[in-house]
Amino acid sequence: MESPRELSRRQFLTFLGQGALALSLSGPAASLLSACATAPALPGAVPTLSPSAEDALRLAPGLRYDLVAAWGDELVSGGARFGFNNDFLGFFPLAGRPREALLCVNHETPNPVFVSNYTDLSTIKSRAQVELEMECTGVSVVHIRQNEQGAWKPVKDSAFNRLVNGKTVIPFASDRPIEGALSAVGTMGNCAGGKTPWGTYLTCEENYDQFYGDTLYRPNGKRVHLTKEPEFPREIFGWDKHFDYPPEHYGWVVEIDPRTGKSVKHVALGRYAHESATVARAQDGRVVVYSGDDTKNEHFYKFVSNSSRDLKSGTLYAANTETGEWLPLKRSANHKLRKKFKDQTELLIRTREAARLVGATPLDRPEDVEIDPRTNAVYVSLTNNVERGNPFGSIMKLEEKDGDHGALTFTASTFLTGGPELGLSCPDNLAFDPRGNLWITNDVAGKDMHHPPYAEFKNNGLFFVAMSGPEAGIPKLVATAPRDAEFTGPEFTPDGRTLFLSVQHPGELSPNLNELTSHWPGGGKSIPRPAVVAISGELLATLSGV
Ligand code: FEO
Ligand code: CA
Ligand code: CA
Repeated sequence: MESPRELSRRQFLTFLGQGALALSLSGPAASLLSACATAPALPGAVPTLSPSAEDALRLAPGLRYDLVAAWGDELVSGGARFGFNNDFLGFFPLAGRPREALLCVNHETPNPVFVSNYTDLSTIKSRAQVELEMECTGVSVVHIRQNEQGAWKPVKDSAFNRLVNGKTVIPFASDRPIEGALSAVGTMGNCAGGKTPWGTYLTCEENYDQFYGDTLYRPNGKRVHLTKEPEFPREIFGWDKHFDYPPEHYGWVVEIDPRTGKSVKHVALGRYAHESATVARAQDGRVVVYSGDDTKNEHFYKFVSNSSRDLKSGTLYAANTETGEWLPLKRSANHKLRKKFKDQTELLIRTREAARLVGATPLDRPEDVEIDPRTNAVYVSLTNNVERGNPFGSIMKLEEKDGDHGALTFTASTFLTGGPELGLSCPDNLAFDPRGNLWITNDVAGKDMHHPPYAEFKNNGLFFVAMSGPEAGIPKLVATAPRDAEFTGPEFTPDGRTLFLSVQHPGELSPNLNELTSHWPGGGKSIPRPAVVAISGELLATLSGV
């Protein structure tokens, strides 16, 4: 079997055409990368940026950006403010109001340095500091309008503007209480998500254990409360020091009606570090939701609803990518699952254990999922897994039998392997534009950026990938992020002429407010602020406009 690096090199050769480039490809990978990064654009080709270490949002010629909203912006006078660390974005046009929409925005995490000026990790945060973090984590629903100059801006004080945050009481879609309750306080860790055909927003609670820890279920029936072991200690938020909420209340997919704010936690979709919730339809009309568990050696799932109109009940499957089987996590149909879990709700609370029991394939951090609108193929970012010798990640392509999202079997292959040859490492968020091109954001972790083996990739970026034509499959770097940041949540308007994009965690490595590693977007000596931008311009209209 080819190593990821060999596969990547072979793919690169194939994409570029072996004959014409045989000479330049005879050199080492480093010269290959440099040729790729600096080569002039071919006629009709997409201009490509060189990697950047600047504290700036740089764009390829022909693109521009406007700031839509940044952390702390007042959405309601004296009330709701735009949250921190924006991630997934959902654009919902408002019927009968051209150039107006609701933009739903995930706010994944707070950064305690900026949110509550908490810098001394040897002390315990106050309850008031935790409450500030709760208020800026979750989801903002923002009424936006395009002005005469074409820029999208919030409509301040609109009745649509609201927060569903770390303090909002949200019911479970379950008659059976979870840890004694039919509702949970708050949503957090809101990473990627999805949109339903009936116009609602799905937000995923990813690394919930950073907030309230997790529960270890011992074979003897005993339970142990676990605090997450910190790789980066400031990412452990310790809300459980002041609020006694059970970890089992988090790790779900939450559905929000952007027009009313009505929300529900969907138990049937399982509980784990949900990265995304990408919605499709089976050929018989049932709704299907694909979701990855972004943790090393965890699994990829799909939920097939019993209905064409809601997510209340259905079957959750975990993927065996070796055999191409969807394995049902259904207690009633499997004696091992019956023996382990006392009812189906308990199985869903402990989804990871159930997936392991039925033989799901451990993967290298399955993150975002998108479906090629032309072929129905499902693309899944596998961000990386250093321990398994995969520092640069890959994108898996999953083709359901007969192209049916309701199928029980599929074929898995590697679409793209990250690495120096392609100039892309650690693929994370994905989006198809209305013309069927793929856009990728990458996420080299802040603490790893600019260090081997990631040094040459420099800051994180946004990549354009044509899915057909002579440059098919070659990632082109078209935007680079400010220092320490990653781009997240790429979301196109239906006409493909605006790309909303989150700039998450600029300056996240700043140890305190006097030693800032980024000043984006304000510049000067300002503190960095996560923000949503709207990218537009001639190049975008050419590439993705319809
Ligand atoms: Fe929130 Fe896995 O990125
Ligand atoms: Ca992600
Ligand atoms: Ca990420």
